[in-house]
Amino acid sequence: MPFTLTTPLYYVNDKPHLGSTYTTLACDAIARYQRLRGQPVVFITGTDEHGLKIQRTADAKALAPLDFCDRNSESFRDLWTRWGISHDRFIRTTTPAHRALVERFFARVEAKGDVVEKRQQGWYCVACEEFKDDPASASSPSCPIHQRPLEWRDEPNLFFRLSHYQQPIEELVRREGFIAPASRQREVENFVAGGLRDFSISRVNLPWGIPVPGHPGHTFYVWFDALLGYLSALLDPEAPVDLDQLASRGWPAQLHVIGKDILRFHAVFWPAMLLSADLPLPERVFGHGFLTREGQKMGKTLGNVLDPEVLLERCGRDAVRWYLLRDIPFGEDGDFQQKRFCDLVNNDLANTIGNLLNRSVSMARKWFAGGVPPRGEAASADHPLAVASLNASARVDQAMEALDFRRAAEAVLGLAETANGYLNVQAPWTRMKQPGQDASVGADLYGVLESCRWIGVLLTPLLPDLSSRVLAQLACAPLPCDSLWPATSEAATALAAAETARTAWEAARRWGVLPSSAPLPEASPVMQRLEVLDPL
Ligand code: MSP
Repeated sequence: MPFTLTTPLYYVNDKPHLGSTYTTLACDAIARYQRLRGQPVVFITGTDEHGLKIQRTADAKALAPLDFCDRNSESFRDLWTRWGISHDRFIRTTTPAHRALVERFFARVEAKGDVVEKRQQGWYCVACEEFKDDPASASSPSCPIHQRPLEWRDEPNLFFRLSHYQQPIEELVRREGFIAPASRQREVENFVAGGLRDFSISRVNLPWGIPVPGHPGHTFYVWFDALLGYLSALLDPEAPVDLDQLASRGWPAQLHVIGKDILRFHAVFWPAMLLSADLPLPERVFGHGFLTREGQKMGKTLGNVLDPEVLLERCGRDAVRWYLLRDIPFGEDGDFQQKRFCDLVNNDLANTIGNLLNRSVSMARKWFAGGVPPRGEAASADHPLAVASLNASARVDQAMEALDFRRAAEAVLGLAETANGYLNVQAPWTRMKQPGQDASVGADLYGVLESCRWIGVLLTPLLPDLSSRVLAQLACAPLPCDSLWPATSEAATALAAAETARTAWEAARRWGVLPSSAPLPEASPVMQRLEVLDPL
């Protein structure tokens, strides 16, 4: 079974923002880690392109909706390439293959008797693309999230009989591990306990949507359409839709990663839709927290939106990835603070890791004929740096399995701190001046260089670029964890490639792999310091 992992499909009404970038970077780290574990991964991302919000934005720009979507969807694709995202599929909900899947899925749900026509009355938030029927907002016609006026709707809609699925959904949301982190589970359990009500899955007078077969004048509600993108991403777009093929193409997903605001759609509505269509349910839905900036909600009106393009250009991939994954506990809200960002990147990556590598390579080259010194006593599995490396590696595994990127980053950093401490205590620069110390200085340097190799290896899923540079500085190859798709969609080839990745990952996590006397490239800094004085 492949490990199928999804980001939300992002609305194309705007450019990618820091929130979508955050989810996508986190998923990239998960995908890379799972590949290294030998899993054939299907990492899905893409764009959600229908609905009133997008239609209105396109109208305001005097563009045909599809032209507008083409342009903006491309900007997501392009940005993900520039961030080095290793997705396997990029699905657009305006493709003919997706439309065919939505029609086929709807036919199953309708045949089940789960579609009824009723009158929809309520306050609608176009920005959320959602009816706001919570008691809290019923009295005030303004969206609690967007602070924009809600619009009153009174129209005939097709409804999905969510109420029929009360019991299985109650059981599902109580199941340990289905909703993560656990703090989000309670919120969904309470919502379900309040009684599930049918929800409308069509709109009238909304041309920018997929027409509902057999119901002239109706187009699908954007969420009904968008969630199905997770399925259409898995099917061959050239072949006729066959929902029964999904099982052999990576469905059910192991993990949907989303922001906390869209948890209900994924943990309640979506499973019920799948139950209705007799399709298996995703294993886990992880709702991460929201990012603020210097303690404030980001928004256009406040003029404090952090642009991922600017971050990428001015600070680079490693710096931003490190900060987001290392500093914000995944699942909780996080605050982007520019000073802290620069400090962490400079201290952790440029100093603790970068300087360690730089100074140990320089010393080895100078004293040991330009290459890696003999292992000497550092060959022993009891060497303190061998113990520290193995320990860090086990902690990275545990943390990555638990999607705790912060703990994984701390484990790698902890190893670099231990190696720095070791070097400072052994002080090879002093001992090298004394006669007869070559062998023991060589062994010490070997131990530190080998620890640096472990740091490079363990950084692979978190910071693939920096990891490659660390390994290149030690004349070692990077580990294979990129997407295999579209190079191969053959299951057998994907399995073989996954096995290669797993073997490489295991082989790299043995103490003493760095070959003695291998020539080392001239030391050059692997991480530039960040000097960002003006606001990003
Ligand atoms: N199109 C829907 C998803 C459909 S999935 C079948 C959608 N798109 S979105 O572009 O508005 O949001 C994408 C993601 O960005 C959501 O997971 C949302 O939680 C996340 N974020 C939006 N702002 C955010 C922050 N300030 N911080 C972190 N993530 C946030 O919803």
